[in-house]
Amino acid sequence: MTGIESPVDMRVRIGELILANPIMPASGCFGPELAALMPLERLGALVTKTIFTGIRSGNPAHRLAETPHGMLNSVGIPSPGIARFRSEVLTRYRSFGVPVIVSIGGLAVREYFEVIEALADDEFAAVEVNVSCPNLEAGGLEIGADPVLIERVTRGVVARTARPVIIKLTPNVSSLGVLAAAAEAGGAAAVTVANTFTGMAIDHVTRRPVLGNTVGGLSGPAIKPLALRQVWEAARHISIPVIGCGGVSSAADAAEFLLAGATAVQVGTATFNRPDAMITILDGLHDLARDGAVAAIRDLTGALRLDQATGQLETRRTT
Ligand SMILES: Cc1cc2nc3c(=O)[nH]c(=O)nc-3n(C[C@H](O)[C@H](O)[C@H](O)COP(=O)(O)O)c2cc1C
Repeated sequence: MTGIESPVDMRVRIGELILANPIMPASGCFGPELAALMPLERLGALVTKTIFTGIRSGNPAHRLAETPHGMLNSVGIPSPGIARFRSEVLTRYRSFGVPVIVSIGGLAVREYFEVIEALADDEFAAVEVNVSCPNLEAGGLEIGADPVLIERVTRGVVARTARPVIIKLTPNVSSLGVLAAAAEAGGAAAVTVANTFTGMAIDHVTRRPVLGNTVGGLSGPAIKPLALRQVWEAARHISIPVIGCGGVSSAADAAEFLLAGATAVQVGTATFNRPDAMITILDGLHDLARDGAVAAIRDLTGALRLDQATGQLETRRTT
């Protein structure tokens, strides 16, 4: 199957950016080296690992732990610094002819602004702002847990680039809808829902945490139902696009995220098991839409039928 023969219009729009299809990698779960194993140029976009202004070494080992149907990581976002990122990493990403979304991070609000100021608009198609970083100015609480800070970071990044700004939200909050609305109020073109869920693993024999950082982020199929619910909640609170992310490993998973309200879908952990997972998902999603007589993939966004589900919920409450 190639795009030329495709009877389904797979294009989606994120702000002013039109992507050839809705499938892209999740930040940190993908690198240009995968080009040897899959046709990267077929993806809707490429998302870089989160970049900070300075050089960071990341967290102490161990950084990964397997869990049933998931994975805990405490990689801690090692970063080569913005200068090396621009000269070595970003040029490689751009060589594939696919829109590049640069993920930026910061440990204080002004650090986000320093990263975006160090980038030129013609070097990237959109920016994804990872607000799941601990705010060292506020004692380590995630910046993304505070709607006031989210709006401030969003507004500041929007003011410093003409490219679409995507805010990647943390799911470790009680009301994701409020945070999504804060991103929209700050001028975001879209939100990504979501980053990893905080978790931990303990070795009961040594009585020590398995991860060098004690806690880490849970990803993979284990979080899919949680992320799906968060996407649905975000989409009901805002009118800008939602990019769904969390445990997507099949075309059916991707379709579920679109139905819940996502415009595009990111694939992370699935790529570690199957490097070509994104291509399998893209082709499967196309065929699934074609077989369901869906003319354009964007028609699936938010097309969840709720009438019957609402009835089921009410039934459950009364029994
Ligand atoms: C090893 C690893 C590294 C990650 N690095 C980043 C990162 O640099 N920036 C970011 O925003 N998210 C990062 N994430 C989170 C993913 O982008 C994604 O939000 C999360 O894993 C959920 O998607 P998944 O279940 O498909 O993996 C990382 C996840 C993993 C597993």
